[in-house]
Amino acid sequence: MQAMYEKMVILTGAGISAESGLGTFRDAQGLWAQHRIEDVATPEGFAHNPELVQAFYNARRAQAAEAQPNAAHAALAQLQSSYPGEVILVTQNVDALHEAAGSKSVLHMHGALASALCASCDHRWPAPPELSPDSLCPQCQSAAARPDVVWFGEMPYHMDRIFSDLETCDLFVAIGTSGQVYPAAGFVDAATAAGAQTIELNLEPSATHSRFDSARFGRASELIPTWVAELIEGPNRD
Ligand code: OAD
Repeated sequence: MQAMYEKMVILTGAGISAESGLGTFRDAQGLWAQHRIEDVATPEGFAHNPELVQAFYNARRAQAAEAQPNAAHAALAQLQSSYPGEVILVTQNVDALHEAAGSKSVLHMHGALASALCASCDHRWPAPPELSPDSLCPQCQSAAARPDVVWFGEMPYHMDRIFSDLETCDLFVAIGTSGQVYPAAGFVDAATAAGAQTIELNLEPSATHSRFDSARFGRASELIPTWVAELIEGPNRD
């Protein structure tokens, strides 16, 4: 098989995990319709009410632990393992469903529920099922454990690596993301500036859809396996 693209960067968002039963953020019943971002997803909210914030992420951690990857996660894992070109997988999701589907390398730009972070010494360790304001950092023993997730106002992870991959990719794909949160919503522009083709795969047009070269709309569990099969086997197979 010859690689149609030498290097692709794939960005995923909450839409890829929706059919695994994990709620998205901005749908009518989404997480941000039920909680104020300021309360549960900012450093200020955590400083103001750490019990509330820990309880919010404990609930999400428990829900994510029960969830199973769907056909879209599986298709991307297959693409990563069998495509002859480079496939860089970047996710805004804090669940571990890409890994559960078999993806070996995933850049979690918004952190991971499975990880805990010490706000005092920056040590990271596997998060227990529940964190509380009394949870101690195993390294420095401070009661400063927090979820290792990126909050609004904080710098997402792996930015240098991701932008350098965007500058050298020949395909950028955004899957299941509303295009409302930067810097991820600006990745399409970085890829376009690098001369890459860009495609959006989403349930409906995102806020940034007009900046993509092409788009396909539908449920991730159907769209992604079809798109991956075309990439691997070619679009006109019999
Ligand atoms: P959003 O909730 O903003 O958007 C989810 C997108 O998925 C929407 O465009 C939906 O149309 C689409 N979608 C829903 N169901 C789908 C399905 N079955 N198949 C395909 N697409 C589907 O989620 P994100 O864009 O991921 O950040 O949100 C970005 C960031 O905003 C999150 O990482 C989080 C949030 O605030 C932080 O908490 C820092």
